Amino acid sequence: MSEGGVATTVTDAVRSTTVAIDQAGVGDTPRLDAELLVGHVAELDRVGLRVHGDRTLEPEAWKRLDALLGRRVTGEPIAYLLGTAWFYGREFEVDRRVLVPRPETELLVELALTHFADHARSATFVDACTGSGCVAVSIAAELDGRARVVATDISEDALDVARANAARHGVEVEYRAGDLFEPVADLRRVGVVVANPPYVEGVDDSGLEAGVRDHEPHVALFVPGGEGVSSFYGRIATQALQVLEDGGMLAVEHGEGQRAMVASALRAAGFVDIEGRDDLAGVDRVVIGYRTSGGQ
Ligand SMILES: C[S@@+](CC[C@H](N)C(=O)[O-])C[C@H]1O[C@@H](n2cnc3c(N)ncnc32)[C@H](O)[C@@H]1O
Repeated sequence: MSEGGVATTVTDAVRSTTVAIDQAGVGDTPRLDAELLVGHVAELDRVGLRVHGDRTLEPEAWKRLDALLGRRVTGEPIAYLLGTAWFYGREFEVDRRVLVPRPETELLVELALTHFADHARSATFVDACTGSGCVAVSIAAELDGRARVVATDISEDALDVARANAARHGVEVEYRAGDLFEPVADLRRVGVVVANPPYVEGVDDSGLEAGVRDHEPHVALFVPGGEGVSSFYGRIATQALQVLEDGGMLAVEHGEGQRAMVASALRAAGFVDIEGRDDLAGVDRVVIGYRTSGGQ
């Protein structure tokens, strides 16, 4: 990229990287992606890129940029290239072992904290399907030692990332490996259960963006081994109900258009006062329900 070995500047690097990403047709934000990648190799933030735009980018940095760009043009998410993603105001370590935290999932944290502040008796939270640990760590950090947070995931690899994130943010989270709520079956009187489970049916990846389908872990995306989404949510609801206190709340994320199915899974399990919540983009995103009435 540093044509003919001629040293070029940070600004040149942003320009050529933007063009390369744009031409590859990946994502909607080629300029932002380019700034993040060049900033990463040049160790500059976005303001620094402007202030030091005429600084020469060293050959070693060009080499690293070329390697990252080669991955970006295949659609690999920018968060994996940078090794971090922001969620609820904190930076989390992420790599191919975990789903990249999505801004819409912050709704789970808000709902959990609001229920805790207004209604919960118990200060125990469970985050099932924790992935990078973004939800569990955010709750633990926001409550700053006032809560017990237990998180599960079926992937040991994901739990390694989640542990690193708890350490990074200096919070205590108990991590337990296993299927849904089996690892926490000993718990009772939990105040809030949250979960952002996989919710794509079987191996039907037709609705997924290529960057997601080809790079994010399939265990994080697809409902396991032939089980239908509705049966999977049924298991989530039934098992969550077992651990909740009276009035305790389950908040579970789901895919677009799945609200009625998820609400009916909660109803069938015995939840009451069931409601759907939209995310900031106005998309149906979370269903909440209570073990007994009086929790809202
Ligand atoms: C959609 S990702 C969500 C990760 C994280 N909570 C977030 O919001 O970014 C789903 C996670 O559920 C885990 N998972 C999949 N099937 C599971 C199961 N049966 N029991 C527990 N965890 C499971 C995956 O390993 C993955 O980390």
